Amino acid sequence: MIKKTDQKVGAVLVVGAGVGGMQASLDLAEAGYNVYLVEKGPSIGGVMAQLDKTFPTNDCAMCTLAPRMVDCGGHLNIEKLTYSEVESIEGEAGNFRIRVRKKPRFINEDKCTGCGTCTTNCPVLNIAHFEDVDELGKVQLKEEDRQIFQQILSQHDINRESIIAVLQDINNRYRYLPDDILRHVAAALNVPLSLVYSLATFYNAFSLVPRGKYVIRVCMGTACHVQGGHQILQGLERMLNVPVGGTTEDMNFSLEEVRCLGCCGLAPVITINEDLYGSVTQAKLPKILKRYREEEVSVGIASEGVSDAKD
Ligand code: FES
Repeated sequence: MIKKTDQKVGAVLVVGAGVGGMQASLDLAEAGYNVYLVEKGPSIGGVMAQLDKTFPTNDCAMCTLAPRMVDCGGHLNIEKLTYSEVESIEGEAGNFRIRVRKKPRFINEDKCTGCGTCTTNCPVLNIAHFEDVDELGKVQLKEEDRQIFQQILSQHDINRESIIAVLQDINNRYRYLPDDILRHVAAALNVPLSLVYSLATFYNAFSLVPRGKYVIRVCMGTACHVQGGHQILQGLERMLNVPVGGTTEDMNFSLEEVRCLGCCGLAPVITINEDLYGSVTQAKLPKILKRYREEEVSVGIASEGVSDAKD
């Protein structure tokens, strides 16, 4: 926690806790002023917290924002008044009197950890958004699907801790998560369908639409972007004749873009299923794809040097 610095005169009110408001509050607080940071939303962070990356550098928005949120959250000179709005301002420069309305949150702020489980399990929301929960397991599966589902279930404990493992097995088997089977997952594990969908849509590895046999992921993180990742993506779109997010008609290839695969030294990087290719150029793409078209694939890492060994 940041130490309270020497007190200066007066206090300052900052309205809006976006990245600008937070930085202003931090600068003032570090200068020794007491800061009241008023934000009408339920938390500090503002719109930037909803962005994936920033223009024009494609830097991760959260990497810019998170340190300021942490500093603001722990600074003893900053009093956060979230879910609040300024109602009136009276007085003059140096002697303002400001009335702030704080909206009710309907939770115990001392106990809330922000885990979101109450939202996921909210009976009002679930009933409003989904069909009768008693009907979830009654969706008829084809005999073949029913057997596959039962076989997958038999390999796991029947409780909510198994959800991700069950979804992984289903995703591996079908290359996506069929809607009917998700309903049976909810019923079998006795969890809200909303929870199943929140996991199914959160993880990149899951898909709600059928994917191709080979999923090509092109890294568009900062290092790969700078090293020409965009040209690689365009080259693959042209060669496969599908846009990003699409799947070829023969269901052989799906094309996706991802952020940083964690091997920036090999940029630009692509992966095809479990295989990783580094230092990729447009000229190398036909040769790489040919391996998969001819199904001569062996699993491995293929940076510049290693990929030659696979040729
Ligand atoms: S930016 Fe592509 S691997 Fe890190």
